[in-house]
Amino acid sequence: MVDLKALFSLTGKRVLVTGSSRGIGRALASGLAAAGARVALHGATASQALDGAVAEVGNGAIAIAGDLATIQAVDAIAEQALSALGGVDILVLNASIEVREAWDAISHDAFARQVAVNLEASTRLISALAPGMVDRRWGRILGIGSIQEVKESPAMPVYAGLKAAQTSLMRNLARQFAASGITCNTLAPGVVETDRNRQALTDAALRERLTRQIPMAHFGEADDFIGAAVFLCSDAGRYVTGVRLLVDGGMHL
Ligand SMILES: NC(=O)c1ccc[n+]([C@@H]2O[C@H](COP(=O)([O-])OP(=O)(O)OC[C@H]3O[C@@H](n4cnc5c(N)ncnc54)[C@H](OP(=O)(O)O)[C@@H]3O)[C@@H](O)[C@H]2O)c1
Repeated sequence: MVDLKALFSLTGKRVLVTGSSRGIGRALASGLAAAGARVALHGATASQALDGAVAEVGNGAIAIAGDLATIQAVDAIAEQALSALGGVDILVLNASIEVREAWDAISHDAFARQVAVNLEASTRLISALAPGMVDRRWGRILGIGSIQEVKESPAMPVYAGLKAAQTSLMRNLARQFAASGITCNTLAPGVVETDRNRQALTDAALRERLTRQIPMAHFGEADDFIGAAVFLCSDAGRYVTGVRLLVDGGMHL
C-alpha cells in the first residue's frame, strides 16, 4: 500500500517563506512545519508579529528580517537562511507589496518598489538558493501568485502585471530546473481578507462585487492554501512543475 504520510512528509526539509510574519505566509509556514519542515520565517522588519509567528510555528523555526526592496537586504536574507538552516530545500516566494494606483496615476517610486519586491527579489533569492538545490538534486520553488493574473483589478495594474511576470519566471525556470529534481510552480490565491486589503474591504459595495464573482460565494482563509502548498512542496507533487494552481473558490471561472 502507498505510504501517503511519507509522500506528503517534509521531515528534514529546510524552508524559507518570505513575508510569513502575517497573513497567508504565516499560514503556509505553519502548514509546512506541521508537515515536518524546519522553517525560516521572514518579515520586512523585526516585529512582535514575526516573533509570535516563529513561536507558533515551532519545530526549530527561526526569524529573519529584511526589506526585499533593497538588494543588500535580499542577499543578507538568503545568507542568513543558508547559514542558520544549513541549506534551503524549499523556497516560498510569498512576500509582495501592492500599491493602489490607476493606470493614469502610476508613479515612478511605487512602480520601482513593486518591481523590486515582487519580481527582482524573487529572481535574486532563487539565484542564491537554487544552486544548493541543484547540487542535492531536490528542490521546490513556489511562487505565490494572485487571482489578479487572470482577473486584473483596475486599482492595481502594476501589481497584477508583476504577479503574471513572476509566474512566467516560474514556468521559465521549471523547464530549466526539471532535470535537476527541482519543481517551480505558482500557487495563486483568490481574495483573502488580510492586513493588506482589510481597509479596502470595509467598502460594503466592493465586498459584494467581489463575492458575486466567486462561485463559492465567500472569500478564502489563509489556511485554505496549506494543502496545495504541502502537495506542491512534498514528494506528492514531484511530477508537477510549471503549473499555476488557482486556489480561489472558482473565481477564475
Ligand atoms: N490577501 C489577498 O487577498 C491575496 C490575494 C491574492 C494573492 N495574494 C498574495 O499572497 C501573498 C501574501 O499576501 P497577504 O495578504 O497574506 O500579505 P500581508 O498580510 O499583507 O503580509 C505581508 C507580508 O509580507 C511582508 N512584507 C511586506 N512588505 C515587505 C517588504 N518590502 N520586504 C519584505 N517583506 C515584506 C510583511 O512583513 P511585515 O510584517 O514585517 O510588514 C508580511 O510578512 C502576497 O504575495 C499577495 O500578493 C494575496
